[in-house]
Amino acid sequence: MSALAVKSLTPEIAPKRTRKPARLHPLPLRTMHWINAAAIFIMIGSGWRIYNDDVLFGWLQFPDALVIGKWAQYGLQWHFFGMWIFVLNGIAYLSYGIATGRFRRKLFPIRLRDILATVGDALRFRLAHDDLTVYNAVQKILYLGVILVGILIVITGLCLWKPVQFSELASLFGSFQTIRVIHFLCMAAIVAFVLVHVTLALLVPQSFVAMITGGPTLNGKPLAVAASEPVNVSVPAPVGEPARVAAPAADPMPDSSE
Ligand code: HEM
Repeated sequence: MSALAVKSLTPEIAPKRTRKPARLHPLPLRTMHWINAAAIFIMIGSGWRIYNDDVLFGWLQFPDALVIGKWAQYGLQWHFFGMWIFVLNGIAYLSYGIATGRFRRKLFPIRLRDILATVGDALRFRLAHDDLTVYNAVQKILYLGVILVGILIVITGLCLWKPVQFSELASLFGSFQTIRVIHFLCMAAIVAFVLVHVTLALLVPQSFVAMITGGPTLNGKPLAVAASEPVNVSVPAPVGEPARVAAPAADPMPDSSE
Protein backbone atom coordinates (compact mmCIF):
# COMPACT_ATOMS: atom_id res chain seq x y z
CA MET A 1 0.00 0.00 0.00
CA SER A 2 1.43 3.38 -0.88
CA ALA A 3 2.29 5.92 1.79
CA LEU A 4 -0.42 8.16 0.41
CA ALA A 5 -3.06 5.44 0.75
CA VAL A 6 -2.04 4.67 4.33
CA LYS A 7 -2.19 8.35 5.19
CA SER A 8 -5.66 8.66 3.73
CA LEU A 9 -6.94 6.07 6.19
CA THR A 10 -5.62 7.76 9.30
CA PRO A 11 -8.33 9.06 11.67
CA GLU A 12 -7.08 12.65 11.53
CA ILE A 13 -7.98 13.09 7.91
CA ALA A 14 -10.73 10.47 7.50
CA PRO A 15 -14.12 12.18 7.20
CA LYS A 16 -15.97 12.02 10.51
CA ARG A 17 -19.46 10.51 10.62
CA THR A 18 -21.55 13.15 12.29
CA ARG A 19 -25.01 11.53 12.22
CA LYS A 20 -27.12 12.33 15.20
CA PRO A 21 -27.95 9.39 17.47
CA ALA A 22 -30.98 7.39 16.41
CA ARG A 23 -34.11 7.63 18.48
CA LEU A 24 -36.71 5.08 19.44
CA HIS A 25 -39.42 6.84 17.42
CA PRO A 26 -37.72 8.65 14.50
CA LEU A 27 -39.03 12.05 13.45
CA PRO A 28 -40.82 10.84 10.28
CA LEU A 29 -42.71 8.22 12.30
CA ARG A 30 -43.78 10.73 14.95
CA THR A 31 -44.86 13.24 12.34
CA MET A 32 -46.97 10.65 10.52
CA HIS A 33 -48.42 9.34 13.79
CA TRP A 34 -49.69 12.77 14.89
CA ILE A 35 -50.92 13.71 11.42
CA ASN A 36 -52.83 10.42 11.46
CA ALA A 37 -54.32 11.20 14.90
CA ALA A 38 -55.56 14.59 13.62
CA ALA A 39 -56.95 13.03 10.42
CA ILE A 40 -58.77 10.31 12.40
CA PHE A 41 -60.30 12.99 14.63
CA ILE A 42 -61.65 14.82 11.55
CA MET A 43 -62.81 11.62 9.84
CA ILE A 44 -64.73 10.36 12.86
CA GLY A 45 -66.38 13.69 13.78
CA SER A 46 -67.44 14.38 10.20
CA GLY A 47 -68.44 10.74 9.63
CA TRP A 48 -70.80 10.94 12.61
CA ARG A 49 -72.33 14.09 11.09
CA ILE A 50 -72.96 12.30 7.77
CA TYR A 51 -74.32 9.24 9.60
CA ASN A 52 -76.83 11.36 11.56
CA ASP A 53 -78.41 12.43 8.27
CA ASP A 54 -79.34 8.84 7.36
CA VAL A 55 -78.89 6.57 10.38
CA LEU A 56 -78.16 2.87 10.10
CA PHE A 57 -79.51 2.04 13.55
CA GLY A 58 -82.67 3.81 14.69
CA TRP A 59 -81.46 3.93 18.28
CA LEU A 60 -78.14 5.58 17.47
CA GLN A 61 -77.76 9.30 16.75
CA PHE A 62 -74.52 11.12 17.59
CA PRO A 63 -74.89 14.26 19.74
CA ASP A 64 -74.35 17.56 17.90
CA ALA A 65 -71.57 18.45 20.35
CA LEU A 66 -69.47 15.52 19.05
CA VAL A 67 -69.90 15.95 15.31
CA ILE A 68 -67.95 18.09 12.83
CA GLY A 69 -69.89 20.16 10.29
CA LYS A 70 -73.09 22.11 10.77
CA TRP A 71 -75.00 20.16 8.11
CA ALA A 72 -74.41 16.84 6.38
CA GLN A 73 -72.97 18.63 3.33
CA TYR A 74 -70.35 20.36 5.48
CA GLY A 75 -69.71 17.05 7.21
CA LEU A 76 -69.08 15.49 3.79
CA GLN A 77 -66.61 18.22 2.86
CA TRP A 78 -64.72 17.74 6.13
CA HIS A 79 -64.79 13.98 5.53
CA PHE A 80 -63.14 14.32 2.10
CA PHE A 81 -60.59 16.79 3.48
CA GLY A 82 -59.68 14.33 6.28
CA MET A 83 -59.75 11.43 3.82
CA TRP A 84 -56.98 12.86 1.63
CA ILE A 85 -54.77 13.49 4.66
CA PHE A 86 -55.52 10.03 6.10
CA VAL A 87 -54.90 8.20 2.81
CA LEU A 88 -51.74 10.06 1.73
CA ASN A 89 -50.29 9.92 5.23
CA GLY A 90 -51.30 6.25 5.51
CA ILE A 91 -49.52 5.39 2.25
CA ALA A 92 -46.42 7.22 3.52
CA TYR A 93 -46.59 5.36 6.88
CA LEU A 94 -47.04 1.93 5.24
CA SER A 95 -44.21 2.58 2.76
CA TYR A 96 -41.96 3.79 5.57
CA GLY A 97 -42.81 0.85 7.83
CA ILE A 98 -42.08 -1.66 5.06
CA ALA A 99 -39.05 0.07 3.53
CA THR A 100 -37.22 0.63 6.83
CA GLY A 101 -38.14 -2.80 8.19
CA ARG A 102 -39.84 -1.17 11.20
CA PHE A 103 -42.99 -3.27 10.83
CA ARG A 104 -40.96 -6.47 10.62
CA ARG A 105 -38.87 -5.61 13.67
CA LYS A 106 -41.53 -4.00 15.86
CA LEU A 107 -44.72 -5.89 15.00
CA PHE A 108 -43.39 -9.40 14.29
CA PRO A 109 -43.20 -12.17 15.27
CA ILE A 110 -46.39 -12.61 17.28
CA ARG A 111 -46.24 -15.86 19.24
CA LEU A 112 -49.22 -17.50 20.94
CA ARG A 113 -47.02 -18.07 24.01
CA ASP A 114 -46.34 -14.31 24.26
CA ILE A 115 -50.02 -13.44 23.77
CA LEU A 116 -51.05 -15.76 26.61
CA ALA A 117 -48.30 -14.39 28.86
CA THR A 118 -49.27 -10.76 28.13
CA VAL A 119 -52.98 -11.41 28.65
CA GLY A 120 -52.14 -13.23 31.94
CA ASP A 121 -50.07 -10.23 33.10
CA ALA A 122 -52.88 -7.85 32.13
CA LEU A 123 -55.49 -9.86 34.05
CA ARG A 124 -53.24 -9.77 37.14
CA PHE A 125 -52.69 -6.01 36.63
CA ARG A 126 -48.99 -6.71 36.15
CA LEU A 127 -48.70 -5.44 32.61
CA ALA A 128 -45.39 -3.56 32.49
CA HIS A 129 -44.03 -1.38 29.69
CA ASP A 130 -40.63 -0.67 31.25
CA ASP A 131 -38.84 -1.40 28.03
CA LEU A 132 -40.20 1.12 25.54
CA THR A 133 -38.26 -0.41 22.66
CA VAL A 134 -40.34 -3.59 22.61
CA TYR A 135 -44.08 -3.85 21.94
CA ASN A 136 -45.80 -6.64 23.88
CA ALA A 137 -47.84 -9.25 21.99
CA VAL A 138 -51.17 -7.50 22.64
CA GLN A 139 -49.76 -4.17 21.43
CA LYS A 140 -48.48 -5.87 18.27
CA ILE A 141 -51.93 -7.35 17.57
CA LEU A 142 -53.69 -4.04 18.27
CA TYR A 143 -51.32 -2.05 16.03
CA LEU A 144 -51.48 -4.58 13.20
CA GLY A 145 -55.24 -4.85 13.64
CA VAL A 146 -55.81 -1.09 13.46
CA ILE A 147 -53.59 -0.85 10.37
CA LEU A 148 -55.68 -3.55 8.64
CA VAL A 149 -58.94 -1.92 9.75
CA GLY A 150 -57.58 1.40 8.44
CA ILE A 151 -57.04 -0.21 5.02
CA LEU A 152 -60.54 -1.78 5.06
CA ILE A 153 -62.22 1.49 6.03
CA VAL A 154 -60.54 3.25 3.09
CA ILE A 155 -61.58 0.49 0.64
CA THR A 156 -65.21 0.52 1.83
CA GLY A 157 -65.16 4.32 1.82
CA LEU A 158 -64.07 4.27 -1.84
CA CYS A 159 -66.97 1.92 -2.65
CA LEU A 160 -69.44 4.27 -0.92
CA TRP A 161 -67.98 7.34 -2.59
CA LYS A 162 -67.77 5.96 -6.15
CA PRO A 163 -70.06 2.93 -6.26
CA VAL A 164 -70.14 2.91 -10.07
CA GLN A 165 -66.42 3.32 -10.71
CA PHE A 166 -65.57 0.79 -7.98
CA SER A 167 -68.52 -1.51 -8.71
CA GLU A 168 -66.30 -4.62 -9.05
CA LEU A 169 -64.74 -3.92 -5.67
CA ALA A 170 -68.12 -3.10 -4.15
CA SER A 171 -69.60 -6.38 -5.36
CA LEU A 172 -67.09 -8.23 -3.16
CA PHE A 173 -68.81 -6.85 -0.09
CA GLY A 174 -72.45 -7.12 -1.18
CA SER A 175 -75.09 -4.42 -1.24
CA PHE A 176 -74.50 -0.70 -0.72
CA GLN A 177 -76.14 -1.02 2.70
CA THR A 178 -73.80 -3.89 3.68
CA ILE A 179 -70.82 -1.73 2.74
CA ARG A 180 -72.19 1.07 4.94
CA VAL A 181 -72.43 -1.37 7.86
CA ILE A 182 -68.85 -2.63 7.32
CA HIS A 183 -67.60 0.98 7.08
CA PHE A 184 -69.44 1.78 10.32
CA LEU A 185 -68.04 -1.30 12.12
CA CYS A 186 -64.50 -0.33 11.06
CA MET A 187 -65.14 3.13 12.55
CA ALA A 188 -66.38 1.52 15.78
CA ALA A 189 -63.24 -0.67 15.93
CA ILE A 190 -60.99 2.40 15.44
CA VAL A 191 -62.86 4.34 18.14
CA ALA A 192 -62.48 1.37 20.53
CA PHE A 193 -58.77 1.14 19.64
CA VAL A 194 -58.23 4.87 20.22
CA LEU A 195 -59.97 4.75 23.62
CA VAL A 196 -57.78 1.85 24.82
CA HIS A 197 -54.65 3.25 23.11
CA VAL A 198 -54.94 6.75 24.59
CA THR A 199 -55.77 5.35 28.06
CA LEU A 200 -52.65 3.16 27.97
CA ALA A 201 -50.54 6.06 26.65
CA LEU A 202 -51.67 8.18 29.60
CA LEU A 203 -51.09 5.32 32.07
CA VAL A 204 -47.50 4.97 30.81
CA PRO A 205 -46.62 8.66 30.41
CA GLN A 206 -43.03 7.97 29.29
CA SER A 207 -44.41 6.22 26.18
CA PHE A 208 -46.56 9.29 25.46
CA VAL A 209 -43.60 11.65 25.94
CA ALA A 210 -41.46 9.40 23.71
CA MET A 211 -44.00 9.73 20.89
CA ILE A 212 -43.48 13.51 21.13
CA THR A 213 -39.74 13.80 21.78
CA GLY A 214 -38.57 10.67 19.99
CA GLY A 215 -37.76 8.81 23.19
CA PRO A 216 -34.43 7.46 24.32
CA THR A 217 -31.44 7.63 22.04
CA LEU A 218 -29.58 4.42 21.35
CA ASN A 219 -26.46 4.80 23.49
CA GLY A 220 -25.93 8.27 22.13
CA LYS A 221 -23.86 6.67 19.38
CA PRO A 222 -24.09 7.06 15.64
CA LEU A 223 -26.46 4.69 13.89
CA ALA A 224 -23.74 2.50 12.39
CA VAL A 225 -22.13 1.88 15.81
CA ALA A 226 -25.42 1.44 17.64
CA ALA A 227 -26.55 -1.08 15.05
CA SER A 228 -23.48 -3.26 15.40
CA GLU A 229 -23.79 -3.90 19.12
CA PRO A 230 -26.53 -4.79 21.62
CA VAL A 231 -28.73 -1.81 22.40
CA ASN A 232 -28.93 -0.28 25.84
CA VAL A 233 -31.47 2.45 26.37
CA SER A 234 -32.11 4.42 29.50
CA VAL A 235 -35.72 4.26 30.56
CA PRO A 236 -36.98 7.27 32.52
CA ALA A 237 -37.45 6.16 36.11
CA PRO A 238 -40.18 7.24 38.51
CA VAL A 239 -39.21 10.32 40.51
CA GLY A 240 -36.81 9.40 43.30
CA GLU A 241 -35.55 6.18 41.69
CA PRO A 242 -32.37 5.79 39.69
CA ALA A 243 -32.88 5.40 35.96
CA ARG A 244 -33.22 1.78 34.87
CA VAL A 245 -31.29 0.43 31.95
CA ALA A 246 -33.00 -2.03 29.69
CA ALA A 247 -31.09 -4.24 27.28
CA PRO A 248 -33.68 -5.41 24.78
CA ALA A 249 -31.56 -6.14 21.71
CA ALA A 250 -34.94 -6.41 20.00
CA ASP A 251 -34.58 -3.34 17.84
CA PRO A 252 -30.89 -3.15 17.12
CA MET A 253 -31.54 -1.36 13.83
CA PRO A 254 -33.60 1.73 14.39
CA ASP A 255 -35.25 3.10 11.27
CA SER A 256 -33.23 6.21 10.85
CA SER A 257 -31.53 8.91 12.77
CA GLU A 258 -32.87 12.40 12.97
C1 HEM B 1 -54.36 11.53 20.72
C2 HEM B 1 -54.36 10.28 20.34
C3 HEM B 1 -53.18 9.35 20.40
C4 HEM B 1 -52.19 9.22 21.34
C5 HEM B 1 -52.05 9.99 22.64
C6 HEM B 1 -51.30 8.17 20.90
C7 HEM B 1 -50.16 7.74 21.55
C8 HEM B 1 -49.26 6.77 21.09
C9 HEM B 1 -48.07 6.37 21.75
C10 HEM B 1 -47.60 6.90 23.08
C11 HEM B 1 -47.48 5.41 20.99
C12 HEM B 1 -46.19 4.65 21.32
C13 HEM B 1 -46.59 3.43 22.07
C14 HEM B 1 -45.43 2.81 22.79
O1 HEM B 1 -44.28 3.23 22.64
O2 HEM B 1 -45.69 1.88 23.56
C15 HEM B 1 -48.29 5.21 19.83
C16 HEM B 1 -48.02 4.32 18.79
C17 HEM B 1 -48.90 4.01 17.79
N1 HEM B 1 -50.14 4.60 17.60
FE1 HEM B 1 -50.94 6.13 18.64
N2 HEM B 1 -51.75 7.69 19.71
C18 HEM B 1 -52.91 8.37 19.38
C19 HEM B 1 -53.70 8.18 18.26
C20 HEM B 1 -53.56 7.14 17.40
C21 HEM B 1 -54.50 6.81 16.35
C22 HEM B 1 -55.77 7.60 16.05
C23 HEM B 1 -54.02 5.71 15.73
C24 HEM B 1 -54.61 4.94 14.59
C25 HEM B 1 -55.88 4.86 14.35
C26 HEM B 1 -52.76 5.34 16.36
C27 HEM B 1 -51.98 4.27 16.00
C28 HEM B 1 -50.74 3.98 16.52
C29 HEM B 1 -49.86 2.96 15.99
C30 HEM B 1 -50.14 2.03 14.79
C31 HEM B 1 -48.70 3.00 16.78
C32 HEM B 1 -47.43 2.17 16.57
C33 HEM B 1 -46.50 3.01 15.69
C34 HEM B 1 -45.23 2.28 15.32
O3 HEM B 1 -44.44 1.98 16.20
O4 HEM B 1 -45.04 2.05 14.10
N3 HEM B 1 -52.52 6.22 17.37
N4 HEM B 1 -49.38 6.06 19.92
